[in-house]
Amino acid sequence: METILRKADINDEETFAMAGDILKAGGLVAFPTETVYGLGGDALNSEAAGKIYSAKGRPSDNPLIVHIADTNSVYELAEYVPEGAKLLMEAFWPGPLTIIFKKKSVVPDTTTGGLNTVAIRMPSHPGALKLIKDSGVFIAAPSANLSGRPSPTTAAHVMEDMNGRIDMVLDGGPVGIGIESTIVDMTGERPTILRPGYISGKMIKDVVGDCIMDPALESVGAGIRPKAPGMKYTHYAPKGELSIVESDDIEKVINKINELVQEKKEQGFKTAVICDTENVARYNCQHVLDAGSRKNEITVSAALYSLLRTCDDIGADYIYTESFAEGDMGYAIMNRLIKAAGHRIIEV
Ligand code: TXA
Ligand code: MG
Repeated sequence: METILRKADINDEETFAMAGDILKAGGLVAFPTETVYGLGGDALNSEAAGKIYSAKGRPSDNPLIVHIADTNSVYELAEYVPEGAKLLMEAFWPGPLTIIFKKKSVVPDTTTGGLNTVAIRMPSHPGALKLIKDSGVFIAAPSANLSGRPSPTTAAHVMEDMNGRIDMVLDGGPVGIGIESTIVDMTGERPTILRPGYISGKMIKDVVGDCIMDPALESVGAGIRPKAPGMKYTHYAPKGELSIVESDDIEKVINKINELVQEKKEQGFKTAVICDTENVARYNCQHVLDAGSRKNEITVSAALYSLLRTCDDIGADYIYTESFAEGDMGYAIMNRLIKAAGHRIIEV
């Protein structure tokens, strides 16, 4: 299949009409959102949803997020909309928050991975909103990467993984946030975060008065099954071995990483370092990758997945990264980084 690549210029009616026709016919279109690129198909068409799983090589028990362009659409998809969810929709939509509801039967099991709940989000990206509105379909969209690769933050990443596998890619340039939306489950007794993201637990608590983290997020390896099926898979792993080096003292981190790099270099391995902008000049390594500044966490989240892909491109055997655990976004960033590192953390 030839994959059509077009700019996601919201004034280009012809491109959006073409993308809408593809979606209506059950085809797949990747598109930009404010978090990461999504791989879209008609959420109410079981066959289209099935194609998404095959294009990604994704296990079919891992449900998709349904993207809408109008808050009222929730009532067509959700069996029941709790008061708390209404407040969250008002506060954070359009934006990087996905809410879990009890589903109506119009939503096929293929879309929800067989669950009786549905994940819904209204993105804020103008290109995404226009695509949903113009096509007239609700768009099921996971991140537009091959399963196991970092989520795409540029159209070039999408093409790397999806060229020849899907009908069309809309290029909206680099995304703003760079990590996937926060997922909050509103079907239980207490609002529960299943996946951390830009919208923090505190922001949710400020609106609905309560919010807890899925216990599986905090208890690595304790055998607790995460409520978001996707969170149990090893995501985002670069091909090389990634380790996080942590300490209260950044000098110790820099020394340790330089020592490890030297050791691996002597053994003939290729190494890369991921660090804060401030520390770039402090590392003695051929590939020092600037992750942005901890002081402005969104620069780090926006860069993270792209840097993990770069590590693969340069063929790094060992990758060492500083920790970026500060602030609310730091929590979300570390959730992804710790997974990418397969929980390899070196304390110094
Ligand atoms: O930012 C985002 O959310 C991006 C953009 C494209 O919108 N999408 C995204 O989709 O990250 P995906 O498929 O990569 O991640 C969806 C996550 C998975 O962990 C999945 O298990 C969880 O959402 N999920 C979906 N439906 C669910 C449900 N009904 N109950 C619990 N978890 C659900
Ligand atoms: Mg994903």
